[in-house]
Amino acid sequence: MSYDLIVIGSGPGGYVCAIRAAQLGLKVACVEGRETLGGTCLNVGCIPSKALLHATHQLHEAAHNFDAMGLTGAKPKVDWKKMLSYKADTIGQNTKGIEFLFKKNKVDWLKGWASIPAPGQVKVGDTVHEAKKIVIASGSESSPLPGVEVDEKVIVTSTGALELGKIPKKLVVIGAGVIGLEMGSVYARLGAEVTVVEYLDRIIPGNDAEVAKTFQKLLTKQGLKFVLGAAVQGATATKTKATVTYKLRKDDSEHTLDADTVLLATGRRPYTDGLGLEALGVEITKRGQIATDSHYKTSVDGIYAIGDAIDGPMLAHKAEDEGMAVAEVLAGQAGHVNYGVIPGVIYTWPEVASVGETEETLKDQGRAYKVGKFSFMGNGRAKANFAADGFVKILADKDSDRILGAHIIGPYAGDLIHEICVAMEFGAAAEDLARTCHAHPTYSEAVREAALACGDGAIHA
Ligand code: NAI
Repeated sequence: MSYDLIVIGSGPGGYVCAIRAAQLGLKVACVEGRETLGGTCLNVGCIPSKALLHATHQLHEAAHNFDAMGLTGAKPKVDWKKMLSYKADTIGQNTKGIEFLFKKNKVDWLKGWASIPAPGQVKVGDTVHEAKKIVIASGSESSPLPGVEVDEKVIVTSTGALELGKIPKKLVVIGAGVIGLEMGSVYARLGAEVTVVEYLDRIIPGNDAEVAKTFQKLLTKQGLKFVLGAAVQGATATKTKATVTYKLRKDDSEHTLDADTVLLATGRRPYTDGLGLEALGVEITKRGQIATDSHYKTSVDGIYAIGDAIDGPMLAHKAEDEGMAVAEVLAGQAGHVNYGVIPGVIYTWPEVASVGETEETLKDQGRAYKVGKFSFMGNGRAKANFAADGFVKILADKDSDRILGAHIIGPYAGDLIHEICVAMEFGAAAEDLARTCHAHPTYSEAVREAALACGDGAIHA
C-alpha cells in the first residue's frame, strides 16, 4: 500500500499525529506491534498507574477520613486480583477508544513491528509499504542500571510494578522521581513498607525545591521512608526476595536493604530498536535521542521523529503536542510547540504540578522575580475535604508582573495548573489572574489567592 504518511508507534505522540494528519487530508497508516493501541501510556504507564492510584486513594480516604465525617462501618478490604482487573478494564476501554478513533478518521493500523529499509519505505512483517513521509514515534523504555538485573517479577520496572503477583510486604524503590513516588504511594497505601533510595540529596529533581521538601514531608507522614544521597550499587534477587546495596555519598559507607520487590525507577531512554536508523544514517545525539530540527525532521529527508525518542521531557502530553505540530507541518501548516509552557504532574496525593520557571532556574538566570504563595489551609473547600496540605506558588517578573512559572502541591494540582498555563500562553500578568472572578468554594480560589499575593496580598492568608 502507498500512503502520504506512515507513523511508527501508536502512543500519545503517534496516534495523535496519525489522527491529526488524517483530519488534515493525508492518507495515513500507523504501525503498532503491541496487541493494543496506545503505547506505553495507555498499556503500561499513565493510564494503568492512575487506575491504581485512584483505587488506593479511595482506600486511604476510607481508612483515614471516613470516620471523622461520620461514615462508620467495616473498613474496605483489598481484593488485589479484582483491583488488577479494574485496572485492566480501564486499559481496555482506553485502547479500544483509540481503535475507534482510527476507524472514524480512516487511519489504517498496520499490525506488527516496523523497520525502515529506505527513505519512503516502511516494512511491517514481510510487506513493504510506500510512504511519502515517515514519522517515528517509537517512545522509550526503562533505562538499565548496572548491577540491577530486572526480571519483572522480583526486580521490576514500572511495567512489572503494575502487575505484581501479590502486594509486597517490603518494597524498595530505586529513584525518587515520578515513577518511584507514584508507584511507591500505591504500595504504601496498600500496606507495604516502602523505602525510596535516591542518589541526590532531594526528591523529584528539577521541580521547585520548596515543593520537593513539603512533598517529602507529606509522603513521610504517609509512611514512605527515604534514603537520600545514596548511590545504588546493585540488586540481587532469589525467586521471592531481593537485596539492594547502596553507598552513602557523604562517607562512602555501604549498606543493604532487604525487600520482597524492588522497583527500578531511575529514568527512561529512547526506544528505537529494529528501526534500522543506523543503516539509514539518521543522526543520533550523545544521549541516544533521534536528532531533529525545529520541524521534527531528522537528518534524513522524509523521516521525522517526535515524543520520547527525541529531546525534551518524556511526557505523554509533550509527545501529543509534537504529534499535532508535525502533522500540521506535513500538511503545509505552521506546526509549533511552546516548550516554555509544558506542565508536569505527579499524580500522588496530594498532587504536584508545575509549569515554567522554578525559583532555582530564575536565580541561575539572574532574573528579578516575586513570589505569590497561598496555603490550602486558607481554602475553605480544601479544609472541608481534608485536603488542606500544600500550597500554590506563582512566580512573576518583578517589574512587569508577567507570570514566569507556577508550582502547586495540593488537591487536584494537576487540574489547577491549567488556568496558569492558559494565562502564560497569553503572556498574562499575575494581576490578570487575580482580577478574574473565581467561583466559591473551589480549590481554584487558591490559585487566585497566590496571584493576589504577587500584588497587594492574598485575602485569606
Ligand atoms: P525520573 O528521571 O523522574 O527520576 C529518576 C530518579 O532516579 C532521579 O531522582 C535520579 O536522581 C534517581 N537516580 C538515578 N540513578 C540512581 C541511582 N544509581 N541510585 C539512586 N537513585 C538514582 O525517572 P522515572 O521516575 O524513572 O520516570 C521516567 C520518565 O517517565 C520521566 O521522564 C518521567 O517524567 C516520566 N513519567 C511521567 C509521569 C507523569 O507525568 N506523571 C509518570 C511516570 C513517568
